[in-house]
Amino acid sequence: MAKIIAGIASSHVPAIGVAVDRGMTGTPYWEPLFKGFGPVREWLAKLAPDVAIIVYNDHANALSLEIIPTFLIGVADKFAIADEGFGPRPVPVVQGCAPLAWHLAESLILDEFDMTIANEMQVDHGLTVPLSITCGQPPAWPFRVIPLCVNVVQYPPPTGARCFKLGQAIRRAVEKFDEDLRVVIYGTGGMSHQLQGERAGLINRRFDTAFLDGMTKDPLALTRITHTEYMREAGSEGIEMVMWHVMRGALEENVAEIYRHYHVPASNTAAAVLVLENRSAA
Ligand code: DHB
Ligand code: FE
Repeated sequence: MAKIIAGIASSHVPAIGVAVDRGMTGTPYWEPLFKGFGPVREWLAKLAPDVAIIVYNDHANALSLEIIPTFLIGVADKFAIADEGFGPRPVPVVQGCAPLAWHLAESLILDEFDMTIANEMQVDHGLTVPLSITCGQPPAWPFRVIPLCVNVVQYPPPTGARCFKLGQAIRRAVEKFDEDLRVVIYGTGGMSHQLQGERAGLINRRFDTAFLDGMTKDPLALTRITHTEYMREAGSEGIEMVMWHVMRGALEENVAEIYRHYHVPASNTAAAVLVLENRSAA
């Protein structure tokens, strides 16, 4: 039986990827952020999962604004790196896990989550930056990846509660898969940030800290945060945090916080990484 063994929440700020790719992680601006990633990499290397389900949003790179799936799953054997305007990031191609991805697509749809299926798709910074944060710069990514996209770009995005329920359905589906795969799930995006308009540059440490605490203490309360509250408290792009609920819903009720790192700013964003393990595993 396959099993979800841990969850990772991670920001996906594109400039973090640029800092890695250009060897700038030791500069005075970036060092305090990157120092905090070391323990996550050590933990993950030791955990050595077989597959990662990475929940992220495409930023109009693979998907244009012509067709906007609310939830999408990538079932390909590999995913090329998107060119976001400066050429594709110089990182390894992402290897997929088609058998588990197809099983997830089937189980989720029969479980009444209407997934869009992507047979071919490029992946953008939403997926590759969390990989860089948690794996560094290996010659090949150390596990297979199932991309799962959530629309947070075009109103209306799904609610946090719906995302949490999708996570619960993912866990049910994974546990019905015959092969003994050890699976981790990433929720990416956030934390507080607003990239445009009068409030550009908004950061809300109080909101972010309560959100990080709530992931362990009372995740269901966090799922009741409305879109308006995200916008008001965490900025327009803070809505990305609904994707953390997919990750949290896929874990057991009782989780242990293994590690957290919160740093302001990375580009225009409050950046965080949070590691959760099921209590039954910890
Ligand atoms: C930034 C953050 C994001 O999450 C993103 O998708 C793009 C830009 C930023 O802070 O620059
Ligand atoms: Fe983003």
